Amino acid sequence: MRQESAPSQVRPSAPAPREAVPRAWWRDAVIYQVYVRSFADSDGDGVGDLRGVRERLPYLAGLGVDAVWLTPFYASPQADGGYDVADYRAVDPVFGDLTDAADLVAEAHRLGLRVIVDVVPNHTSDRHAWFRAALAGPGAPERELYVFRPGRGASGELPPNDWESVFGGPAWTRTADGAWYLHLFAPEQPDLNWENPVVHEEFASVLRFWLDLGVDGFRVDVAHGMVKAPGLPDVGAGEQARMIGRQVLPFFDQDGVHEIHRSWRRLLESYPGERISVAEAWAPTPERLARYVRGDEAHQAFNFQFLTTGWEAAALREVIDLSLVATTEVGAPTTWVLSNHDVVRHTTRYAEGDAGRGLRRARAAALLMLALPGSAYVYQGEELGLPEVEDLPDEVRQDPAFFRGRAAAEAAGGAGAPVKSGQDGTRDGCRVPLPWSGHEAPYGFGPGGSWLPQPADWARLSVEAQTGDPGSTLELYRTALSLRRELPGLGSGSLRWEEAPEGVLLFSRPGFVCALNTRDTEVVLRLPGRALLASGPLGSSAGDTVLPGETCGWWAV
Ligand code: NOJ
Repeated sequence: MRQESAPSQVRPSAPAPREAVPRAWWRDAVIYQVYVRSFADSDGDGVGDLRGVRERLPYLAGLGVDAVWLTPFYASPQADGGYDVADYRAVDPVFGDLTDAADLVAEAHRLGLRVIVDVVPNHTSDRHAWFRAALAGPGAPERELYVFRPGRGASGELPPNDWESVFGGPAWTRTADGAWYLHLFAPEQPDLNWENPVVHEEFASVLRFWLDLGVDGFRVDVAHGMVKAPGLPDVGAGEQARMIGRQVLPFFDQDGVHEIHRSWRRLLESYPGERISVAEAWAPTPERLARYVRGDEAHQAFNFQFLTTGWEAAALREVIDLSLVATTEVGAPTTWVLSNHDVVRHTTRYAEGDAGRGLRRARAAALLMLALPGSAYVYQGEELGLPEVEDLPDEVRQDPAFFRGRAAAEAAGGAGAPVKSGQDGTRDGCRVPLPWSGHEAPYGFGPGGSWLPQPADWARLSVEAQTGDPGSTLELYRTALSLRRELPGLGSGSLRWEEAPEGVLLFSRPGFVCALNTRDTEVVLRLPGRALLASGPLGSSAGDTVLPGETCGWWAV
């Protein structure tokens, strides 16, 4: 495949051996997010599954990551890609069964990889036994497990407050008997009532179930949402979708959630082997985010401020500084992330309409992220430089955010175009199944088709096409991850900013220098040491380094 001409790379020898039980493995771990339905399909139904993941684990071990995070594979009607769980202790038949889950975990461990699974505590599916029982009638005791309220208005015809669903439209749905229930996401995802001790007990038991099966931790879905402000007050004026992650809301980032994270930390620490939790928390500032990773709470929290920062040197430097200061103050590492299954892939986010630019910047951003102290998450396919698929026909889309957004636009008298939701717009475009090999769809994804159509030109992006091509994004990631293991302390400690021309970020770590040129024109830098790796072709001029535009490089000093 043709991307950039071969960057200067120093290939390290064999990867460093993994210690049997490294201390605080998670503090600098690179964790690969597997979106299970789109990773690899073993049985030809077009949907990825646990066996598919297990068969491809050697690829992940060879890539050089430390752990995998599996998105939900639990019994679910799939109203929201599995984030609507009907049974937390069962595997959905579309993904396999409990034996497949146990086999996957065992095989991962054999290969030196840890496994993190999702836990979805803010809401269940509307098909969960509790919610079905809750719908039996106004007196059903299970209503206490959810957030049921009478409506406002003369006959209760209005929702209890003004909260909006993250997917668009009101956050309340009325039942046949006239009561309303809260769902911060789709109506098929009723919110649990975390004021009820039964909910706490149930989730402690669910965590134990998976820990006993051998998982190494949990990614906590909507970790900032379980506790709501007393009295469920109105938000008031303003576009709520735009407020998410920018301010504390009566349903997000309430102080009460921290007690839940504390109790889960105690539970995790009662198990051997450093099991962890990573909080998916959209907090308004690095300081508020750092509260989730205080010593007795979650181990990690995704740094979405970094993810949402644009391609601008000063802004990137600021968010890096603020993040490092905030997490250092609480003794935690920072957890960097550029993409996931909810946001536009960063290759496209950075592109500004120019795919070549997007790829150049994405490759550079990956080297920046992997040179920063802390842990990092890699979303499946970013190591292939996959772009967002932006032209999916409406009839194949499955993201509830798309349908809720369209319905809301229609209700407002619009033409039915999808509107951007608080969940970063429509999300099918970043969930298209991976291309592994071959010349036509499904590109080795499985023996059948793929649940979302893959673009006709993805053969050039497949794992097979990129393997062994020193200019490919896949080989860039492989080399970067290998070097990250070899260079002592790259994932820990701090960094020191060095003086650099405008638009350039230059920082040093012990024995190491990283330079990122965010401008679209080259810069000439006087750099010490030996070039290790770069996201684009380095040049030289009278002994100085020529760093092309939108390029990042690493040097050993
Ligand atoms: C965050 C998950 O990543 C997203 O995919 C899901 O729709 C919401 N939480 C609701 O569970």
